[in-house]
Amino acid sequence: MTSHRLTVSLESRSYSIYIGSGLTKVGANPIALPQLRGKKGVVITNTTIAPLYLERVQEWLAAAGYESSPIIIPDGEEYKNHEILQRLYREIFESGLQRNGFVCALGGGVVGDLAGYAAATYMRGIDLIQLPTTILAQVDSAIGGKNGVNLEFGKNLVGTTYQPRVVISDIDFIATLPERESFCGFGEVVKYALLAGDDFISFLEMNHPEIMKQDPRSLASMTLSCSRIKADYVVRDEYDLLGVRAVLNLGHTIGHALEKMYAYQQLAHGEAVAIGLVCALLLSVTMNLLTESGFQRALQLLKLYGLPMLVPADANVDELIDLMRRDKKAGRNLSMILLRGLGDPYLEENIDAGLLRETLEKCKQPVH
Ligand SMILES: NC(=O)c1ccc[n+]([C@@H]2O[C@H](COP(=O)([O-])OP(=O)(O)OC[C@H]3O[C@@H](n4cnc5c(N)ncnc54)[C@H](O)[C@@H]3O)[C@@H](O)[C@H]2O)c1
Repeated sequence: MTSHRLTVSLESRSYSIYIGSGLTKVGANPIALPQLRGKKGVVITNTTIAPLYLERVQEWLAAAGYESSPIIIPDGEEYKNHEILQRLYREIFESGLQRNGFVCALGGGVVGDLAGYAAATYMRGIDLIQLPTTILAQVDSAIGGKNGVNLEFGKNLVGTTYQPRVVISDIDFIATLPERESFCGFGEVVKYALLAGDDFISFLEMNHPEIMKQDPRSLASMTLSCSRIKADYVVRDEYDLLGVRAVLNLGHTIGHALEKMYAYQQLAHGEAVAIGLVCALLLSVTMNLLTESGFQRALQLLKLYGLPMLVPADANVDELIDLMRRDKKAGRNLSMILLRGLGDPYLEENIDAGLLRETLEKCKQPVH
C-alpha cells in the first residue's frame, strides 16, 4: 500500500504528515524522515502500547540510524500530570540527551500531549516525532502542536504550542485499538465531516463498511481527509488567536461540560463530543441556520458510526450551562461553534441561555 504525505506549512516550523500501513516497520513502506538535530533520542510510550509496538518502533528508528531508549509511563488520563512530567524530565536527562536529542511520542493523545510538552520544554525545546496510535490521535491530537498536562482543578490548563518535526500515522496501529476507543475517534471524524461538508460526508457514508472492517486504504483515506482539514485550520491560526482554529471545537463546549459533569468517569471524550455535536446541530436548526435536511443527514452519519447521541437523562442542564460558561475556550459570554449549513461553521458568541436550556432538554430524548 502506498502512503500519503501532506505538509503542514508553517514556515520554518513546517513538517510532513505521513499516513499509511507499515510506515514503522523496517523495509515495509519506507518514508524519508526529516533531518533531526542529532542521532539519539527517547521513545515515550505507556504500559499498554509498549508490549505491542515499542520493539518494532525502536528497530525501525535504528534502521534509520537513530539510537533510542524507552520511557514507559502508566496508562491513563489521570497520569497526564506534573508528577509524570517530572519523571519524564528525569529519565530524559538520565538517558544523556542533549539539546540535539529527540523525543518520539508513541501512543494516543495522552502520551502525545505529555511527550510533546516534555519535548517543548526540555532544554527549551528538542526535536519531536509524533507516532500516534489511536484514531483520535491520528486525526487530531498529533497534528497542530498543542500539548500539555492537566492540573487538579482542570484539564489541559498548562501547555504550549510546539510543532513536531514529523507526524507518522501508521494505520497498522489501529488493529489493536479497543472498540470503544475507535468509536471515540469516530466522534472526531464526524466532527471534521460536519466542518468540511458534502465531499467528506459522502465519503464516510459510502465507505462505512470498509472503515468498520478497518480496511487499510479506507482508514488511510479517512485519516488523510481529517489531517488535511486539521492542518488547514492550524496553518491559518497556529496559535489559536484569530478565532479560526476555534471552529475545531464544534461539539466540544458541550462535550467538555458533559465530561466534567460526570467527573470524566461515565463518558469518554469522543462520546461526549458526539452528544455535543447533536446539541450544536439542533441549536443550529432551532436558530434557522441549518436546514432540516442537513440536520437529518448529520444525525444519520452519527448513527451510522455508532455514536451516542443523547444527553444523559439525569444531566442537570443548568449545571451543564454553568460549566460551559467556565470552559476555557468558551470566552466570557456563552459561545459555541454552530453550523450555518454542513461545511459552514462559525463561532456564535451570544448564545441565548434559554434557547440552549431548551435544546439540551430536548436532546435527552431521541431528536428527529
Ligand atoms: N493536543 C491536542 O490537540 C489534543 C486534541 C484532542 C485531544 N487531546 C488529548 O488527547 C487525550 C485523549 O487521547 P486518546 O483518545 O488517544 O486517548 P489515550 O491516549 O488515553 O488512548 C486511549 C487508550 O487506548 C490505548 N491505546 C492507544 N493506542 C493503542 C493501540 N494502538 N492499541 C491498543 N491500545 C491502544 C491507550 O493506552 C489508552 O488506554 C486527552 O488527554 C485529550 O486532552 C489533545
